[in-house]
Amino acid sequence: MGCPMLKIIQSAMLCVVSMTIAVAENITSKGDVRHIQAFNSGWRFCSGSNEGAEKLEYNDSSWLIVNVPHDWSIEGLAKSVTEVESDVPEFNIVKGQWKFRRGDSILWKNLDYDDSSWEIVSLPSTWEQHSNYTQDNVFGWYRRELYVPADLQGKDIYINVGKIDDVDETYFNGVKVGGMGSFPPNYVTAWDVIRYYKIPHTIIRYGGKNVIAVRVFDGIMGGGIYDEGKRIVEGIFESTCPGGSGAGYVNAGTGWYRKTFVLPDAVRGKRIFIEFDGIYMNSDVWINGVHLGNRPYGYSSFQYELTPYLKYGNEKNVLAVKVNVQQPCSRWYSGAGIYRNVRLVIKNPVHIAQWGVYVTTPSVSKNEAAVCVEKKIQNQSPSPQHVKLETIIVDESGRKCAGASSLQTIEADRISIDKSSLKISNPQLWSLEKPTLYHAISKVYVNGRIVDSIDTPFGIRTFEFTMDKGFFLNGKNVRIKGVCLHHDLGCLGAAINTRAIERQLEIMKSMGCNAIRTSHNPPAPELLDLCDRMGFLVMDEAFDEWKMSKTLYGYGRFFDEWSERDLRDMIRRDRNHPCIILWSIGNEIPEQNSENAYKMAKRLADICHEEDSTRPVTSACNLPESAVKTGYANALDVVGLNYNISSYQTLKGKFKLIGSETSSAVSTRGEYNLVLDGDTLKIEKELNNQCTSYDIVSPDWGNMAETTLKAVKNSPWVAGEFVWTGFDYIGEPTPFGWPSVSSYFGIVDRSGFPKDRYYLYQSQWTDKPMVHILPHWNWQGFEGKEIPVWCYSNCESVELFLNGKSLGEKRFSETEELHLEWRVPYTLGTLKAVAKNNGKIVCVNQVETAGEPAKVVLVPDRSVIKADGNDLSFIKVMITDKKGRVCPNAEHLIKFSIEGEGKIVGVDNGDPVNHELFKASERKAFHGLCLVVVQSSNKRSMIRLTAESEGLKSAEVLIKTR
Ligand code: GAL
Repeated sequence: MGCPMLKIIQSAMLCVVSMTIAVAENITSKGDVRHIQAFNSGWRFCSGSNEGAEKLEYNDSSWLIVNVPHDWSIEGLAKSVTEVESDVPEFNIVKGQWKFRRGDSILWKNLDYDDSSWEIVSLPSTWEQHSNYTQDNVFGWYRRELYVPADLQGKDIYINVGKIDDVDETYFNGVKVGGMGSFPPNYVTAWDVIRYYKIPHTIIRYGGKNVIAVRVFDGIMGGGIYDEGKRIVEGIFESTCPGGSGAGYVNAGTGWYRKTFVLPDAVRGKRIFIEFDGIYMNSDVWINGVHLGNRPYGYSSFQYELTPYLKYGNEKNVLAVKVNVQQPCSRWYSGAGIYRNVRLVIKNPVHIAQWGVYVTTPSVSKNEAAVCVEKKIQNQSPSPQHVKLETIIVDESGRKCAGASSLQTIEADRISIDKSSLKISNPQLWSLEKPTLYHAISKVYVNGRIVDSIDTPFGIRTFEFTMDKGFFLNGKNVRIKGVCLHHDLGCLGAAINTRAIERQLEIMKSMGCNAIRTSHNPPAPELLDLCDRMGFLVMDEAFDEWKMSKTLYGYGRFFDEWSERDLRDMIRRDRNHPCIILWSIGNEIPEQNSENAYKMAKRLADICHEEDSTRPVTSACNLPESAVKTGYANALDVVGLNYNISSYQTLKGKFKLIGSETSSAVSTRGEYNLVLDGDTLKIEKELNNQCTSYDIVSPDWGNMAETTLKAVKNSPWVAGEFVWTGFDYIGEPTPFGWPSVSSYFGIVDRSGFPKDRYYLYQSQWTDKPMVHILPHWNWQGFEGKEIPVWCYSNCESVELFLNGKSLGEKRFSETEELHLEWRVPYTLGTLKAVAKNNGKIVCVNQVETAGEPAKVVLVPDRSVIKADGNDLSFIKVMITDKKGRVCPNAEHLIKFSIEGEGKIVGVDNGDPVNHELFKASERKAFHGLCLVVVQSSNKRSMIRLTAESEGLKSAEVLIKTR
């Protein structure tokens, strides 16, 4: 273990060298109105339970200095919970003969139980295989003996019981020693988690026979002890991570943050709050040793008031945050820590409450828009206050378009609500093409003095879902061409960065995508700001589970107590964003199928309507038939359909419909899996844990991208679709498990490099003529064999040429498919696709056989970035031949070095099986490409990034920061 972990920590240390030292921070109170101070720098971090770290006087000087947003998982700072202490012997007991019996009896755990009549089976194997036990929702028991040598006398031992599908409870000499998952009625699978159980010496018979008995429950599909489950640790990935494949085998655990700061005397008398945009997860916060609260949900934004506990002048204040990520808790990589922004907000006693401005546009016409601005004003002073409230609307150029004011008296310790109605003439509408924003400036005056002011951007638009024609924005029928996105940012992990999100959206936009589903949780607020500005529609989703958990330590355990609060907070935070067109109360909620389905859904839908009357409520249903039968669907304004494309037809005219999740096609960038089968070539869908990029693979619940595109196109009453997923994400490596650690679902890979599927969507979602050809043209060894060549295009026809010779023209009107296909006997050279409309050439694309790898080429997405300590340049690294053609099979290790005011914050290559560190200064190329991400500091500078690889000509690039 020692080595890899050390490497990770060293690399993490490298990352912090240039960070600000966590000294007390000087806070000033500028002007009269609220003061918002970023509270991101100079935190200290330590993983583990750190007893007493909430106390003011706790000594954190040995902790790591970090800036937030911060994700300790991606940095490899998590403690492994399954790490076997080196002096404790380990017994791998899976392989070999076991006794097996169907059914369930508590007596079968006992040491002296007579199991001589039980079936003898050979493990690892599923019980379908070893005993033809094919029912679902059934129990079975395994027993075996274990000899523990006498010379271990007095020592504890570990047993590795491997992977068990789905739930187990394990006994050693009749004593329960472990269990994973949860048995019915609160069934939760733990099918992909390796069981490591520690056995205390007190129950071990040394030099004699011990009995291990394993009670197993199987939900659906395979059951039993089916995999040996070796513990392998590579970089941040660990095969025995309790988060399993969902977490991408990345550990999390417990971590602590502390931040020390001082406050000037000048802010005495102010009200001081700490705002967190999100902490994953189950955080507890203390100020100066006083517990402020616990927030279980890792995607909620929240604040605490610090005022009563603060010290002023030279005295230090300490914020302490404990974060507890008990795995498994998520079906995808969650990250761990204070992974979103933090602010200290200093307000006057009379101020606008948190999320206290709500802007709606009750009527919109070409000539005039009515704007309603509702404000919650809080009087935290000890006496009644006479306040003047002023609301001004300004347009994008800062010109005042409307204004209103009112007077109010607010009693001490009360909140009062003020509503102003304003009119804007000739409003500029917010649309996808021109996302115009207005600003509502809300001001509060006491005794003629301004005490608070807030700027709320908003948009003026109308929209509607219909049962027969789908979705309308500003009266115009718009097809929703959306993607689902998880929140991780590839090599940056879960730590949010605005530029990284913006780049994701730019890549999606260039494909013709116009909508984002924040699957399956409230997003970082920055994503919504960007969608407002860039013109995306958003389905804002609250939950992936309600009370019935999908993972053992998932949200289900908090649902009863927290769901109302979490949902209200999401809507209050987000409801001014014009991009949002749907509130989703949940994804694939198991309760869809339960007796309480309608009641539970109605409660949450009512909360949404109470908080925001202007948007419809949906939920992503994977069991549409059940959702209709149980009444779940009746609680929704728009029914979201996950997969199940046949229900587009069966539910037509009965509900407003949206394809809330579609396709789930899987592919690996650059992999085609062409293999010789006798004399011909065939495409292996899956090979060496990679999926072919001919788009022919999807799981049994999903569909190929083309199938869904056609189904949506042929169902104009369905508002559109959200493809699973825009980007590959860490975790959920369906259809594989270890050593695969990230998804294959992305239309682009984890680095943001397009897979071929990207061009399929572009051909269906954009009008500007394009054509794309696949595969690459380096098939040395396959000379003369017929290679399937596909073209995606939005033009009428494509003519294909090999080395200048036409292989014929094909037209989309002559095929049902959304691609054109030729079989081309391989010979090296140039394959060129010429796309035509009305017989005229409108665009071309070609692939050429690349020669030997000769050089490294660097292409930054931006070579001038802001010197603000946050901005990023994403540099594409290519391995090319002498002529600059990318070598599609190159896998060279590339080493980076950097000079100037910047640092490398991540490297990646999109390979879902790769276990190299993301926080490093080297990376192997994958199919000729990799990515290096450079971040500016606060100083203006010229950053020089150099890339070197053995045997290749090196490259450098200059990034200016200003
Ligand atoms: C869906 C689910 C997603 C993801 C996807 C993979 O059923 O909603 O979160 O797991 O399957 O195909």
